[in-house]
Amino acid sequence: MTKITQKYWWNNSVIYQIYPLTFADANGDGQGDIEGIIKRLDYLKDDLGIDAVWLSPINKSPMVDNGYDISDYFDICPVFGTLDDFEQLLAEAHQRQIRIILDLVINHTSNQHTWFLESSQSQNTPKSDWYLWQDPAPGGGFPNNWLSYFGGTGWTYNPQRDQYYFHTFNENQPDLNWQNPDVRKAIYDIIRFWLDKGVDGFRLDASSVYSKDKYFRYNPVKFGATDQNDYNNFHHIYNKDLPENHQIIKEIRQIIDEYDERILIGETFIDSRLYESTVFYGVNNDELHLPLTFEFPFSPWYPGYLQQEIEQKERLTPPGASPTYFLNNHDIPRHLSRWVECSLCTNPIAIAKAAATILLTVRGTPVLYYGEEIGMVNHLSIPPEKAKDYAINESRDNQSLESRDGARTPMQWDDSPNAGFSFGKLVEPWLPVNDNYLEVNVKKELEDPDSILNFYRDLLKIRKNSEALCYGTWKTLIHYPYEHLAYIRETEKEQVLVIINFSYEKPFEIDVKVSENKWKVWLSNVEESGKIIDLPETLQPFEVSILGKKL
Ligand code: GLC
Repeated sequence: MTKITQKYWWNNSVIYQIYPLTFADANGDGQGDIEGIIKRLDYLKDDLGIDAVWLSPINKSPMVDNGYDISDYFDICPVFGTLDDFEQLLAEAHQRQIRIILDLVINHTSNQHTWFLESSQSQNTPKSDWYLWQDPAPGGGFPNNWLSYFGGTGWTYNPQRDQYYFHTFNENQPDLNWQNPDVRKAIYDIIRFWLDKGVDGFRLDASSVYSKDKYFRYNPVKFGATDQNDYNNFHHIYNKDLPENHQIIKEIRQIIDEYDERILIGETFIDSRLYESTVFYGVNNDELHLPLTFEFPFSPWYPGYLQQEIEQKERLTPPGASPTYFLNNHDIPRHLSRWVECSLCTNPIAIAKAAATILLTVRGTPVLYYGEEIGMVNHLSIPPEKAKDYAINESRDNQSLESRDGARTPMQWDDSPNAGFSFGKLVEPWLPVNDNYLEVNVKKELEDPDSILNFYRDLLKIRKNSEALCYGTWKTLIHYPYEHLAYIRETEKEQVLVIINFSYEKPFEIDVKVSENKWKVWLSNVEESGKIIDLPETLQPFEVSILGKKL
């Protein structure tokens, strides 16, 4: 059980991820923009109650990977607006006590970035060593067996240099050479530029793959694996999670620490194990404040599994550091689609409320993904001609990754055409709106006291006002979970008991052992809020109860 010793703003905050292309379209061109986000800030603050926004990339980009391929770090992509618009967003957000966190994509640039255009000219330009260039293997062919996460070899041939360059992702996203001090300096200047503008921190994209082996040694193939074109068949010991990577993150953290109250979040790579990810806190908590690890996204909807993940994270999070959790992001199918499909329960509302309760009551900073608060699900039938995830769809030899478009469809604001995404303008949105928008939308759910949205709103309020939920320890009351979870969050002054029954058909005899004291119902789908009750002996199907007590 770890106690939080230093309090940071993110300990009692909830972060909300916006995918700018599909959040809100103010100028009526069908693509989301900064002005649209500004118009929705009151929703985020007053209706929902979040504290910080993480924006998926808004820098200038040819949009092969929809912003995760940057061609100018100092400017805003015209699709989203201008630098002035961004400054207005920052001011308007700060006025409402909403912090703004930018996505920083610095493992690679776009191949349209002037750095790459210059570097690819010849082997003798000042920037010739800014990317990972290698000669063909003796006799021709790829320099080594490193693959792209998006499919096929990670090497692309460039005739001008008669060399290959390496890319962890799509061929249009060449990886930077982080061993080059000039590259580091250029990136650190970018970081300072945005911190000076007043942004509250960064989410480092793909932050565990910056460093690569300087000898470009072959990655070992996993025992028994035959398909040498499958990324998952290799131990990525020479192009991922390298010790040198930590030095880079430390240097970035030092810059962050020169400024007040800024946060450094990082995507410790999607297929990394929890251990590899938690080492990104740094030996002395001097790297990431919050490493985004993927426990909930990759768990089945099963209490025993989820509990094991939480317990592991409790064990591995170093003293003085705090965890973070999320259910969704722009790279994975939305949780209700994953969990309703794989569980026997066909009641998405019940799953949504139970999942939200876990997310917002475990120990750590919760990150919500736009639309999860209303129960948005994946769009399952986007016609191929409307697809937008070019980086994956058009990557060579991609055998296993599926398009991420389904989780990126327009935010469903109301039941007007296109779900109010373009504020009443009749234009075709960038991706099609999910057909369920007539039922699942913000306006309707704000009016329905039993909606998922109102449940989230209550949860956010409860969390904000509870010392135990923000700073308290986490302790399970059940050691062999089967049909339910029960845990305590606790500080010296307050105890919170969270009980969730995963069984959708039967009541469950509760076997948690806590003292006899009375509990106040903070939020429950069976008991009235505010009531003082004894600990119930039986849980109702899908009961979710948060009970509190001052000590
Ligand atoms: C990260 C992003 C993903 C992007 C990739 C390449 O994993 O989350 O969306 O495609 O990096 O930048």
